[in-house]
Amino acid sequence: MWWEQDGHLEVRQNQLYIAGFSAEAFAKQYGTPLYVYNGNRVIENFRAVKEAFSEFKARPRIHFAMKANSHIAILKLLEREGAFIDAVSPAEVQIALKAGFPREKILFTGTSVSTPELKALAKLGITINIDSFSQMQRLRDLGFKGDISIRWNPGIGAGLHSHTITAGKFIKFGIPEHKIESAFLQAKAFGFNLVGLHQHIGSGWLGKDVDAFLETVGKTIAIAVKAEELTGKKLKFVDFGGGPGIRYRMEQAGFPLKKYAKGIVEKMNSSGLKAEIAIEPGRFIVGDAGIFLCEINTVEEKNIPVIGVNAGFNDLVRPAFYGSYHEIVVCSNVNGRQKKQYMVAGNLCESSDVFNESREALRELPTPNEGGILAILNAGAYGFAMASNYNSRLLPACVLLLDGRSYLIRERQSLDELIKSERES
Ligand SMILES: Cc1ncc(COP(=O)(O)O)c(C=O)c1O
Repeated sequence: MWWEQDGHLEVRQNQLYIAGFSAEAFAKQYGTPLYVYNGNRVIENFRAVKEAFSEFKARPRIHFAMKANSHIAILKLLEREGAFIDAVSPAEVQIALKAGFPREKILFTGTSVSTPELKALAKLGITINIDSFSQMQRLRDLGFKGDISIRWNPGIGAGLHSHTITAGKFIKFGIPEHKIESAFLQAKAFGFNLVGLHQHIGSGWLGKDVDAFLETVGKTIAIAVKAEELTGKKLKFVDFGGGPGIRYRMEQAGFPLKKYAKGIVEKMNSSGLKAEIAIEPGRFIVGDAGIFLCEINTVEEKNIPVIGVNAGFNDLVRPAFYGSYHEIVVCSNVNGRQKKQYMVAGNLCESSDVFNESREALRELPTPNEGGILAILNAGAYGFAMASNYNSRLLPACVLLLDGRSYLIRERQSLDELIKSERES
């Protein structure tokens, strides 16, 4: 199959294997719905990014965007690899600290941040990536005098869905182009130490999007030069955000890591800036390392053939929310010859609750059996991280595979946990 990777995802005797283990055996051992992550693949992806830059003699700060996957066990793996962290909420900062990241390696990029949150972050000594003039004003009112970075909106966005584009006109993030110089002057006047400039134009880009991204790299570098002129201080880093995509479909080409690294390094080298390069990949590091397993409850001809599974968009929302395509695999009959077009439907009371990219886009699959296991591939990023308790469904369990062993890294949520914060009137 196009998605097979030696040592990671393999088909043996028509069965799906991950990191040398049978996916179906995991489903039996740990129950379903279940996320399974190959930790060695996470490490491989991280190292691939590092090596792409080292080819051009650069050592960027690689801030793992933990919004993509915030399991402490995965964060610990990346901490050991030398990662930095991109955190987007105060709780993410706390989780990263718990996972062993020192505060100097955490950059907080929030939006619509409250004053108590700013106060707590300043107290922790976390570098705050400013998203608005209001944030700057409120930090000054708190008597803050520390390091800040500024997120600007370079005016060009890119991403695999309009929901994941984070720069351009109708976008809430960052300081817009026409106000960026006054933001630098404001920071200086308030006595802040401006250490970084940041952009994040969107998530999941491939192909031509990489050219759009490199255009913004040039713009951001020019603005970084301007920041140094206006503040009279050198920046410590220029952060180009996250966004590198992964191959969800056979027709897609993989992410051009070399072109990406080369583009950034060459532009930085020719700018005269001495600042470090920072990037914030999330999906690229964990996306293809995780699969999601669920069990088939029903196989039935309705107006269309429907496979009903014991999971829903509360577990994996990407298809319903973004119309995202995920490969779906019948674990014990991966290459079965008898095939049919199916809707793979979840167990929520919502008609959008399907794992096909839309209700109409039926998926050709080998004949499945009730009680069999389906795997949804490329579920390591924005999978569990976006899971919810909708329909009072319990959060799934998660397993990490590392160096030939499996570890339960997140227990299945219990009904008691679900309702423990409820109070009777
Ligand atoms: C500020 C910031 N940095 C990095 C990322 C990571 O994006 P990706 O997972 O596409 O690399 C995001 C995700 O939207 C983000 O908001």
